[in-house]
Amino acid sequence: MKLCTICTVYYCPVREKGGFAPGALENLQPTKSLRHLIFTDHKEWDLNHIQRGHTILRLRPDRVACHDATATMAILQFISAGIPRVAVPTTVHSDHLMVSEKGADLDMSRALGEHAEVYDFLSSASKKYGIGFWKPGSGIIHTVIFENYAMPGGLLIGTDSHSPNAGGLGMMGIGVGGADAVDAMSGMPWELVTPKIVGVRLTGHLSGWTSTKDIICNLAGILTVSGGKGRVIEFFGPGCETLGATAMATICNMSAEIGSTSCIFPYSDAMGRYLRATQREQSVNVSNKSKAALLTADEGSESYYDDVIELDLSSLEPHVNGPYTPDLSHPISQLKDTVTQKDWPLELSHAMMGSCTNSSFEDLEKTRQIVAQARTAGFPKFKTPFMVSPGSEQIRATAEANGILQELRDAGALVLSSSCGPCVGSWDRKDVDVRGKEKNSVISSYNRNFVGRHDSNPATHSFVTSPELVTAFAYAGRLDFNPLTDSIIPDKGSPNSIRFSPPVGQELPSRFETGLDTFQEPSPEGNLSTVTISPDSDRLQLLQPFNPWKVGCTQNMELLIKVKGKCTTDHISPAGPWYKYRGHLENISNNMLTTATNAFIDDSRMLGHTRNPLTYGIQVVPEVARDLKQHQIHWCIVGDYNYGEGSSREHAALEPRYLGGVAIIARSFARIHETNLKKQGMLPLTFNDPADYDLIREGDKITLIGVEDDDFQPGSQVAMQVKPREGDSWEATLNHSYHAGQIPWLRAGSALNHIKATLLS
Ligand code: F3S
Repeated sequence: MKLCTICTVYYCPVREKGGFAPGALENLQPTKSLRHLIFTDHKEWDLNHIQRGHTILRLRPDRVACHDATATMAILQFISAGIPRVAVPTTVHSDHLMVSEKGADLDMSRALGEHAEVYDFLSSASKKYGIGFWKPGSGIIHTVIFENYAMPGGLLIGTDSHSPNAGGLGMMGIGVGGADAVDAMSGMPWELVTPKIVGVRLTGHLSGWTSTKDIICNLAGILTVSGGKGRVIEFFGPGCETLGATAMATICNMSAEIGSTSCIFPYSDAMGRYLRATQREQSVNVSNKSKAALLTADEGSESYYDDVIELDLSSLEPHVNGPYTPDLSHPISQLKDTVTQKDWPLELSHAMMGSCTNSSFEDLEKTRQIVAQARTAGFPKFKTPFMVSPGSEQIRATAEANGILQELRDAGALVLSSSCGPCVGSWDRKDVDVRGKEKNSVISSYNRNFVGRHDSNPATHSFVTSPELVTAFAYAGRLDFNPLTDSIIPDKGSPNSIRFSPPVGQELPSRFETGLDTFQEPSPEGNLSTVTISPDSDRLQLLQPFNPWKVGCTQNMELLIKVKGKCTTDHISPAGPWYKYRGHLENISNNMLTTATNAFIDDSRMLGHTRNPLTYGIQVVPEVARDLKQHQIHWCIVGDYNYGEGSSREHAALEPRYLGGVAIIARSFARIHETNLKKQGMLPLTFNDPADYDLIREGDKITLIGVEDDDFQPGSQVAMQVKPREGDSWEATLNHSYHAGQIPWLRAGSALNHIKATLLS
């Protein structure tokens, strides 16, 4: 794609030839945004010496977006930086906190009561600092961005890992932590290691039951959850032209499940159609003018890509991925055999359709078609409880106006509010014994299925697939079903049976309804509104700066826990009931690593427990961390591969820092989490020889050599001395990925401390 080959950002003045001229875009008026564009400033660089995978880019995003579960901490950090107003168009989206249980209206009333303090804080802080605020019920961050702000060639950073969703409109969306967002909101350049680029060449076209969800479910199986790390996934080839904009967004959205930096499609007619349908004609005009020069794929120059994957859409099968990881990919023809061999519960306890991933008009319409077929065949109701989460107020109103939601309700569906709900664990689930860890299976058109993701129940086996398959499974009620080959077995006494036909997609509605006005405009400059936080609040707490680096803090560190296996940010800082403490660092720190597996405790009922090195008793991890902090004993964590994968939540980095942690030593890190750790003043290190992980024993004391001022330089190595409780000490080599600009964060105690010092100097 003719995005800047250097920085992967389209609106880049270094590509003056063919690039959008500064000023040309000033006429663009995204429907509900500040008219403000900031260009990248790379002119200081010698472009010939920028290397993918190495060079640190200093970028200036066009937009910043945060959701309510990350915005509280991002804004608290912004407040503590002492800056009067955001320097980049920024929006806050009230989508994660609302708990799903009884349906849209009742759940909304509950949310307005339960979260009033947080919504008030977000609303007043947005007013004060010039941020657009999308109130509860507006929709899910990525859908609202897509409907209102995404534009071909733009660069967005969002404090949510599924921000690549904007790639369905040719905008580079990148998931970041709140501290990264604060950099951009403060007017500082935002840093990123120049990503490598994986080209995915699409040929053929989808047919039958195969949908765009299957493209990304299949890719997840090929690349695994860490295969996209440090890479942008860029689609090209004739198959791209066959896909609608929202269908491409589904793929980009779920690219987060392979750990990629971002994912993007070249500008296409379908993007133009979507932009027009959502009242963004000017964006179409500008994009069409620049299409050939800038927004098309680099076909024929495949050496441009670091890797190329070929995907023939015509031979692609529908996929169902899971449980417990989105890269456990099953072509539908193999699912039945696999589920009968495994100990997975066959009966489906819930089916969920929608979310930011799959609630487009096309998705909803396909779901409706399956429901209509079932009704006609004499199956008026779903067999499995079925929930629908519209992605936004706009798509909810549109689906309502087209009769889709009523048809789904008639079939027994519970229509939830336009928010994240069960997708992110905001689900007050009553149909299974969550506390008792009742084993069950659910199927959804969401994107992520890590342990406990939807309902905090580690025994919920979650599978992700396309909306049409979810709907067909909701009539079958069982996992060992294949809608391509199987008929639904009739209930006792019923004369009917049905073999579904694949639904036919309808890319766009005849028109989009706007629905209720749920947007609070960014206030004009000079707004004098105040933001107050009660000192008694258990939801919000002003941040105190972390202490600067203390020489000698890595001597004789206690090992808090050695984490075994997958450890996502959901394991480090679980969601669900903990969401309410996202603005209160002290309180949320009580969840740290409470669902992680301790390598020294071989008991699945003891997740999140560790031995207290002071008392030798077994306690939950945060209690032990607090105890060590109180005794002013520094500690570290040892992690496995891809530590911190999944969501971008920076609480997973803030909590260990707050509780007195110094270093996380892992076999490898997920990109966003590694940066988050650095930003909060934690020291992420990786084993030079991953086998050294196996040698770490319970009770080891760890000393790091080579981390003080002069020794610690970009590319330098760190020596780890391990003193076991019994036996001889041993030594291993560790690596770090700090570049010169990041080392001051470590010394200052956090990136924010460093920014503040820089702004004051
Ligand atoms: Fe929300 Fe789930 Fe999307 S948590 S932002 S609906 S991935």
